[in-house]
Amino acid sequence: MTDEPSVRRASADEPLDALAALQAETFLRPWSVDAIRQELRDSPVARVYLLETPRRLLGFCACWVVAGELHINSLAIAPDVRRQGHARRLLQAVCAEAAAAGATAATLEVRRSNQPAVALYTALGFTIEAVRRDYYEQPTEDALILWNRNTAASLR
Ligand SMILES: CC(C)(COP(=O)(O)OP(=O)(O)OC[C@H]1O[C@@H](n2cnc3c(N)ncnc32)[C@H](O)[C@@H]1OP(=O)(O)O)[C@@H](O)C(=O)NCCC(=O)NCCS
Repeated sequence: MTDEPSVRRASADEPLDALAALQAETFLRPWSVDAIRQELRDSPVARVYLLETPRRLLGFCACWVVAGELHINSLAIAPDVRRQGHARRLLQAVCAEAAAAGATAATLEVRRSNQPAVALYTALGFTIEAVRRDYYEQPTEDALILWNRNTAASLR
């Protein structure tokens, strides 16, 4: 059995407990398994991609592909396997899938203080295009709005 990670699209009908656990470990207000499942069932634009080995979940990306745009709503890599290129690999796969579905641009919002995420997105060709003042709560903080207007460029 190889431990090589691979990316696949999650289904609403599969167990999503590992994904919920990683969300809970990472975010202050994580989505429940039911909420993730419901979004995947009810929204035709919602997708969740999993980066995993046969043994475990390494990370995930929740997004929408809508109106020719990829909206990255949530992204996390398990704390013990960060800085190994997993987020880069996952995002490149997500951008490739979105591009295949017709997306030409990608966007997301991120806390101003989240330097690892800003560095990751910048490395993948995103630029800061706007700021939403005091957008986040607990703690109150600005949101940076990043865009990549040429999603194919994220594949390099
Ligand atoms: C942000 C996050 C997804 C990065 O995942 P990762 O797998 O560690 O990132 P990668 O190893 O693929 O890093 C790719 C590049 O991003 C940048 N980067 C990633 N983490 C960084 C850090 N801690 N400090 C500085 N740059 C960083 C670097 O440019 C890195 O390339 P390099 O390692 O060759 O220098 C991860 O830290 C995480 O899950 N954080 C908590 C959740 C979160 O903040 N999600 C984003 C919300 S929008």
